[in-house]
Formats: sequence, structure tokens, C-alpha cells
Amino acid sequence: MIGTDFDHQLIQLAQKAKERAIAPISGFKVGAVLVTSEGKRYFGCNIENVSLSLSICAERVAFLKALSEGETKFITLALISDSKDIVTPCGACRQLIWEFAPNITIVMGAGAGQGKMQTTKIADLLPQAFTFHCHKKE
Ligand code: THU
Repeated sequence: MIGTDFDHQLIQLAQKAKERAIAPISGFKVGAVLVTSEGKRYFGCNIENVSLSLSICAERVAFLKALSEGETKFITLALISDSKDIVTPCGACRQLIWEFAPNITIVMGAGAGQGKMQTTKIADLLPQAFTFHCHKKE
């Protein structure tokens, strides 16, 4: 799919965020950028540590940074890895994204100079998501 100029810019920024990834275990570096409704950007990269289950994905780093700064409205999340294939958020990230940004657009890029990208909505990545009464609806 051909992305908009905005999507391309975000993928470039996610590429930059990927440089900070700490992924000595998997060797799989991911960068993400999360855009708020006011246009503010929060960057994330995956951070691995030897207690493997404590490692965290780039998307969740971006979200937790933004949420902890008081942000509540998000429009787009872009992500990229070095893979020649488009990188898609893992299941755990999909749940968190959906809970805090049910209408968000996700721009997923392919690395390795492929220039491929795909744009979708979180609801399409996580159909029939688990909900609970405490969810705030946008
Ligand atoms: N990873 C992310 O950061 N985001 C994704 O969308 C997929 C996976 C990270 C987790 C782990 O550090 C490495 O990539 C390999 O799974």
C-alpha cells in the first residue's frame, strides 16, 4: 500500500527511534513513534534484558511514556524494524493499544530499504478485543 506523506514522515521518525533499541538477545530492533491528537510525538524502542519476560516492545515504550505524561488522545502509531517484511504489533501490544486508543491508525513499515508500508486500524488488528467495565471509551 502507498502511504501518505504523513505516514512516510512517521516511518522515518520510527527509523530514527530504532537506533536506540536495546536488543542484544533477539537482535531484532524496533522503533516506534506515537502521535497525539495535538501533534505531539512520543518515541519508543524495544528494550530487552536477560530476565526475558521483562523485555518490552517499542510500541509499549512509546505508549507508556505518553500515558505517564498525561496524554490521553492518540491518532497514529508508526513502527519499523530492520526486517524486509512489514513489522506488526505483537498481541500484548495490540491489547494495550486498543485499550488506550481504540480508533488509532497504525502505520507498519518494512526495513532493509524495502520502502514498503501498510496502514491499518487497531480494531482490524484486534477484532473482538477483550473489554472490561473500566474501559474509558473515546
Ligand atoms: N518487538 C517489538 O518491539 N515490537 C513488535 O511489534 C514486535 C516485537 C520486539 C520484542 C523483542 O525485543 C524483539 O522485538 C523480538 O521479538
